Amino acid sequence: MYKILLTGSDGQVGQDLQQTLSPIGEVIATNRQQLDLTSPDNIRQVIQKIQPDIIINSAAYTAVDKAESESDLAFAVNGVAPAIIAEEAKKIGAFLLHISTDYVFDGKKNTPYLETDITHPLGVYGKSKLAGEQGIEKNGDRYVILRTAWVYGTEGKGNFVKTMLRLGQQKEQLGIVSDQVGSPTWSYDIANTISQILTKLNLAETREIYHFTNSGVASWYDLAVAIFEEAKNLGFPLNIKQVNPITTEEYPTPAKRPHYSVLSGKKTANLLGYNAPYWRDSLKEMLIKLSK
Ligand SMILES: NC(=O)c1ccc[n+]([C@@H]2O[C@H](COP(=O)([O-])OP(=O)(O)OC[C@H]3O[C@@H](n4cnc5c(N)ncnc54)[C@H](OP(=O)(O)O)[C@@H]3O)[C@@H](O)[C@H]2O)c1
Repeated sequence: MYKILLTGSDGQVGQDLQQTLSPIGEVIATNRQQLDLTSPDNIRQVIQKIQPDIIINSAAYTAVDKAESESDLAFAVNGVAPAIIAEEAKKIGAFLLHISTDYVFDGKKNTPYLETDITHPLGVYGKSKLAGEQGIEKNGDRYVILRTAWVYGTEGKGNFVKTMLRLGQQKEQLGIVSDQVGSPTWSYDIANTISQILTKLNLAETREIYHFTNSGVASWYDLAVAIFEEAKNLGFPLNIKQVNPITTEEYPTPAKRPHYSVLSGKKTANLLGYNAPYWRDSLKEMLIKLSK
């Protein structure tokens, strides 16, 4: 059994990890109050005190649009802190599993992004997450950087699925962006995959990037339509009658987002021996869990 230090334990993935990690180790879950990634001293002290075998960094500054005006904070949490965690992990011989994002890419490709593809983030959030990856590669010894995308979960402060359920109750019509595509991914599947990766890999040697999302591709519009169809079947209260596809230009946001955000899951599937669940199946599972 491993001693596992988890950061960001109040987040979507962080909360699900507390469930999926329990069979493989003792989880010391820390939220922002217990381990603040803006404080290098705090990071060092907590790691030195706990002396974990594995550190999982699921904490991040995840407000993609707000990051455009809070660049210093985004870089402190996403860029600087992971490098410090990696340095401390190396000192005590701990393995680091860090979560990163599809937004390290610019979306100009039209086939799924491989772990080896050239990065080119479009906004502050993506740039700060890329800085975190590079800090780990520079300072770290044994680690996995797991890139994922379009995350939603039953826990945490909010996400696209929960926003749609709220708006679908308040409004009869919605316009949703249809020219950005990606793979909607349930946080529980990420958490489960992290536990599987930790049991399959040789933690004594690994320095790798892996991609994991649910399989299949959808636009935000496709996802919204699917949420309303599944939620209606499950009896969620909804007043929505029509969802209209709109373009990114018609819905301007402070941060530029990639138009094509699909990550190849082949390397991870080869490691685990199975393919990621299809996005719509996982969406349904999540909504069932949320409805209980
Ligand atoms: N959400 C997505 O669509 C998405 C897409 C691709 C990749 N990812 C990556 O997946 C990982 C998990 O994301 P998520 O969706 O679970 O995010 P989330 O729900 O926003 O959770 C992030 C957690 O980090 C915590 N945090 C923020 N600033 C902190 C600080 N200074 N010190 C310590 N903790 C801090 C937050 O604390 P509070 O609860 O106190 O705010 C929150 O609990 C992140 O690395 C993220 O970059 C997410």
